[in-house]
Amino acid sequence: MSSIPRMPTSAGVGLRLPHLEEAVATQPSVGWLEIHPENFIANAHATELLVALAGHYPMSVHTVGLSVGSATGLDWRHLARVRALVDRLDPILVSGHLAWSTHGAEYLNDLLPMPYDAETLALVSDQLAEVQDGLGRRFLLENPSSYVGFAGSTMTEVQFLNELVDRTGCRLLCDVSNVYVSSHNMGYDPQAYLDSLPVGAIAELHLGGFTPEEDEATPGSDVLIDTHASRVAEPAWELYAYALRRFGRRPTLIEWDNDIPCLPTLLDEARRANDVATHSCEQDHRRAAC
Ligand SMILES: [Fe+2]
Repeated sequence: MSSIPRMPTSAGVGLRLPHLEEAVATQPSVGWLEIHPENFIANAHATELLVALAGHYPMSVHTVGLSVGSATGLDWRHLARVRALVDRLDPILVSGHLAWSTHGAEYLNDLLPMPYDAETLALVSDQLAEVQDGLGRRFLLENPSSYVGFAGSTMTEVQFLNELVDRTGCRLLCDVSNVYVSSHNMGYDPQAYLDSLPVGAIAELHLGGFTPEEDEATPGSDVLIDTHASRVAEPAWELYAYALRRFGRRPTLIEWDNDIPCLPTLLDEARRANDVATHSCEQDHRRAAC
């Protein structure tokens, strides 16, 4: 275990259940692995395999059910279950989404948006602090993919994220594909968004595939859906290169959750992320030498 690098410089992949046994058997060459704890909490066999993998790879735990934006409070039992898995895996990173997905005892199978205003900021700050206390460690918050905004919002998403970092000491998981998707759907400049994020707080980057669909509200135009069902699109790779120039090299993860391909395809995407990062570093060195 002690030979595992704490913070990998090469890209990782999201490990989903269809690839779990193959990953254990073949131990593919990849920088690190990220899992959704919700896939493992009620699956003792899968958890045992995962713990075995954690002896060979840096691990990241990416929650989808903690719901830091819920107006009805955190689910403390779920937080305790995530904590128990985190304690077994000793991951390099633990993260979740700027979103809500629970209301009372109801679990909604989606990551839902919230208005960016003072009331929501206070709520999310408090609950984010509770999550960090409950986990006993710093938490990374991921920027969402957006399809609608709220007329009552009084700050931008990136202002909201900056405030959360200042108030809670949390770190940010910048999903570069989400930035591309949201900027397309909401009509803002993706590079300006990246420029406004706090560099020192960026602890991880995500890349995932999206799917264009006809926008029924605006015939003739399309909306990008964050499906995680395909390879990373070319404009997202270009934005990733921009993000690397802005943030420097960060642990980068390939996410693929629907129409899941064979494991070598995922690894191929991770290799491309490494190639983009290496090229970006070489350009930086050349600039520094000039
Ligand atoms: Fe993501």
